[in-house]
Amino acid sequence: MGRIIAVANQKGGVGKTTTSVNLAASLAVAEKKVLLIDFDPQGNATSGLGIDKRSCNGIYHALIQEEDIRSLMKHTELRFLKLVPASMDLIGAEVELIDSPEREFKLKECLKPIADQFDYIFIDCPPSLSLLTVNALVAADSVLIPLQCEYYALEGISEILRTIELIKAKLNPELKMEGVVLTMFDSRNNLAHQVVEDIRGHFGEKAFNTVIPRNVRLCESPSFGKPVILYDVQSKGAVSYMELAKEILLRDREAVKS
Ligand SMILES: Nc1ncnc2c1ncn2[C@@H]1O[C@H](COP(=O)(O)OP(=O)(O)O)[C@@H](O)[C@H]1O
Ligand SMILES: [Mg+2]
Repeated sequence: MGRIIAVANQKGGVGKTTTSVNLAASLAVAEKKVLLIDFDPQGNATSGLGIDKRSCNGIYHALIQEEDIRSLMKHTELRFLKLVPASMDLIGAEVELIDSPEREFKLKECLKPIADQFDYIFIDCPPSLSLLTVNALVAADSVLIPLQCEYYALEGISEILRTIELIKAKLNPELKMEGVVLTMFDSRNNLAHQVVEDIRGHFGEKAFNTVIPRNVRLCESPSFGKPVILYDVQSKGAVSYMELAKEILLRDREAVKS
């Protein structure tokens, strides 16, 4: 049975999509079967994988129109990576869900028939703690939180942690913390080193050892519709996301042993 990981942080621009796309791609290169669900109406993960979000149905159609999620999956350039795109309609999904019964469980229901077909399913969340993010956290086994390496990294973190606790208490008692990954680390910036120390102090072993550096290849690759690993495999960005994938694979292997 695969694992469903929500990539969430209500702040925008912290690296959720970059992490979702490139971690998913790195695991797919390691021949793990991976599905990425673009759950942000902005559709950055969709376009970042070279798929035109205006021309296809997406997760909205499973969520609201009860289409089978299997019919919405798109192939990507990587054999082991599939994508369920976000289409523009997803913006309206929140409002359309308001009156529906079990509205927090819609995504979970959609994923049921496919959960055992993948090793990892990533959900790239929107920058809010809205009903979409709640659906992601209810459907997920764990949550991965990207934090940007800046002075304000920890600001706002209490909101998402509180949301996670609420979801655990009321809707998904099994939800675990996958970990916190620091992104956009700039080694020339003294403050960034301090932020890494603070986060490690705060989260202990829940902070990944891998820190993602600021790397221009990571911002260039989406405009070519490619994960960084297919754009510049030797770049620091590509190498660091492969390291992060390795860390997760090793942890999962240890978990199976114990
Ligand atoms: N490690 C990085 N180095 C350089 N630029 C990055 C890095 N991670 C993300 N970015 C850029 O920062 C912006 C925000 O990242 P993104 O992943 O879209 O954040 P979010 O999904 O949380 O809004 C994007 O333009 C992205 O290309
Ligand atoms: Mg995003």
